[in-house]
Amino acid sequence: MPDIDAYLDAHRDQFEADLCELLRIPSVSADSRHRGDIRRAAEWLVAKFRGLGLACDLVETAGHPIVLADSPKIDGAPTVLVYGHYDVQPPDPLGEWISPPFEPTVRDGNLYARGATDDKGQMLTHVLSVEAWMTTEGKLPVNVTLLIEGEEEVGSENLDKFIEANRARLACDVVVISDTSQFAEGVPAITYGLRGIAYYELRLRGPKQDLHSGTFGGAVKNPAIALAEMFAGLIDENGRVQVPGFYDDVAALSDAERKQFAALPFDEAAFRNQVGVAQTFGEAGFSTLERRWVRPTFDVHGLTSGYQGEGAKTVLPAKASGKFSFRLVPNQDPKKIAAALKTKLAELCPPGIEMELVEFHGAPGVVVPLDSPFMAAAARAIEHGFGRAPVYMREGGSIPVVSTFRNLLGVDTLLLGWGRDDDNTHSPNEKFNLADFHRGIRSSARLWRELATRK
Ligand code: BES
Ligand code: MN
Ligand code: MN
Repeated sequence: MPDIDAYLDAHRDQFEADLCELLRIPSVSADSRHRGDIRRAAEWLVAKFRGLGLACDLVETAGHPIVLADSPKIDGAPTVLVYGHYDVQPPDPLGEWISPPFEPTVRDGNLYARGATDDKGQMLTHVLSVEAWMTTEGKLPVNVTLLIEGEEEVGSENLDKFIEANRARLACDVVVISDTSQFAEGVPAITYGLRGIAYYELRLRGPKQDLHSGTFGGAVKNPAIALAEMFAGLIDENGRVQVPGFYDDVAALSDAERKQFAALPFDEAAFRNQVGVAQTFGEAGFSTLERRWVRPTFDVHGLTSGYQGEGAKTVLPAKASGKFSFRLVPNQDPKKIAAALKTKLAELCPPGIEMELVEFHGAPGVVVPLDSPFMAAAARAIEHGFGRAPVYMREGGSIPVVSTFRNLLGVDTLLLGWGRDDDNTHSPNEKFNLADFHRGIRSSARLWRELATRK
């Protein structure tokens, strides 16, 4: 592919400028104040696709729009569905960013901005490789449909409905997603498993209004303490979830997979250093990679109660609430877990407190087969782009649509991640390594040909 690779080399600056343009749009899906920005990001993509000669629709949903584009039809060639998301997580806490989250800035070969790796930068690698093919060859060697949504970070609810209602329109042979990471620097990877998630908010009410803690404390149950007790009741000190039946359906780890994980070049001390803890934590009998990839968990994401301002205030708060989730692994049923959770919380809820459980998004864990010709094609494309064959790994994060594609379209997904574990996704100073960006584009451009001639 001399022409295509030459095009990629000649357009590196232009590709980076495109990415920066998209990163300047603060398309935060969780925050209604950014509705207009979400739309601008979708429209930016529509203009980009149409400019490349792709048929493209901006599809309205009950929430944020979906962008859907098709390359020119090639009869007899396989159809590849590329999925990505143009929405990003909120940039908070703002004060911890070295450069502002929506002013993309290069430092040390990394591009810093919210969404740089998750998922604008990774998603764009496929858009730009399509650009290279369309500009150089006037067509692609496969049929590519690009489905880019604006609600991944809030659970993909409207996307699921869209897929359900448009199965024939989205029919394809394989799905490609770049929204994960390499195993480590210089170790590209194909991910074959993701954890699922079940996300909730627990809201507790005690007295009818905030009270003086001297006058009333000791005689009225404090909702903030009740919240702490209830969360503590959901997990033991070794990280074992205390919801009855929680582990019943958990797929066991095979000896072969355990050996395969252990053979990966994982450095425990470097990991501790990366996250800044003196010691790792987790279920006895499992390694750090096993705890992150194949074991289910409970985590608290945010706690709200009482006085949070400067100085001290002696208040017995009327309310307390906490956001939390379970990461799920294959075979765990989110519905069964929700039912068992409700029973457990009702038992844990102390007298004098009223509780309400709000259910947010959910998705089951997934594994995809490793032995398909599509996988082999992807491995060759990565070897071309990164100069090294990929390792096979799982990830602890969730991409809800992967199980939807399996269930509604009957297709498997290739999870080809160009990011790195220390890219600070969802955190301050999110970044994407620019060399990885270009390697990703090069791999993607090669992928279309490898999929067309797959063996
Ligand atoms: N790109 C991530 C998923 C991911 C994270 C894959 C880490 C591999 C490693 C995605 O954008 C994401 O953040 N998903 C959410 C899903 C949730 C909002 C339903 C997640 O995992 O928290
Ligand atoms: Mn993502
Ligand atoms: Mn994300």
